[in-house]
Amino acid sequence: MQGRDLIDLDGQVALVTGAGQNAGRATALELARHNAGGIAVNDFVPERAEAVAAEVRAMGVPALAVPFDVTDLEAAKAANAAITAELGAATVLVNNAGMAGPGASIRPSQHFWEEDPAHWQRYLGTNLYGVYNCCFAFIPNMVEAKRGRIVTIVSDSGRVGEAKLAVYASSKAGAQGFMRSIAKELGRYNVTANCVSLSALLPDMDEDQRQQIMQGDHMRNLMTRYSIRRCGKSTDVAALVTFLCSNAAEWITGQTYPLNGGYAPSA
Ligand SMILES: NC(=O)c1ccc[n+]([C@@H]2O[C@H](COP(=O)([O-])OP(=O)(O)OC[C@H]3O[C@@H](n4cnc5c(N)ncnc54)[C@H](O)[C@@H]3O)[C@@H](O)[C@H]2O)c1
Repeated sequence: MQGRDLIDLDGQVALVTGAGQNAGRATALELARHNAGGIAVNDFVPERAEAVAAEVRAMGVPALAVPFDVTDLEAAKAANAAITAELGAATVLVNNAGMAGPGASIRPSQHFWEEDPAHWQRYLGTNLYGVYNCCFAFIPNMVEAKRGRIVTIVSDSGRVGEAKLAVYASSKAGAQGFMRSIAKELGRYNVTANCVSLSALLPDMDEDQRQQIMQGDHMRNLMTRYSIRRCGKSTDVAALVTFLCSNAAEWITGQTYPLNGGYAPSA
């Protein structure tokens, strides 16, 4: 066994949604590094998906950009057909696309009862229906192959609650309940289904910029709730997700793993 990589994708083709930047991009690159047979890079911003697919190809791993909106089930099915034709059937799915759509802010500073109800659908669409849609389109590949991995990126706001993020939090909590349930249906096919639950990440940036942000008053105050006093990085996410997608994680299913520097919510 000497020299064998414990974290091995064993040639499986993976789709990562929302992989045009940050956590999704880092995950796509890490899966490629660990013997994925091909990477399908989704983002609803086509140039981002194309750019990351080019990065994967530069690593010598086949890649395809599949720019679609995960809220669109028919588009997810069409992407499955395109990926199967180009790379082979995807049996690894990382549901990373999150938030609320182009330009939308994750931080509405309003109480739930003061929000515009018209905004609720944006959160549910990507964070919950997006997960249903991609699972619906891609699980048949896994059932047929009798192998597969699904990882959904959720949020600690959905595990422990977060003021003024109630709808976002509940969409992410819903995705966890969904994943736990499909894990029970999929185990007999050697398909695992897990969630990774994040607290605050900073977008990718150079180390000086990161340090500068971390030294601001707001961040120093926020970090008193974190045992490891920094925000998460995209590479933190990529490492755990890649492990859960690997052969090494074949006996882990139906779980939600907090990835949060020891974050503890305020009382
Ligand atoms: N950043 C954080 O602090 C944080 C905290 C908790 C959970 N999360 C979750 O982690 C995941 C990744 O976060 P991030 O900060 O790297 O995200 P990000 O916003 O930097 O990148 C997300 C990418 O997904 C794409 N996208 C968004 N909606 C889409 C859709 N409907 N269809 C296809 N593509 C879509 C965007 O264009 C973007 O490129 C998300 O699910 C997010 O909700 C993030």
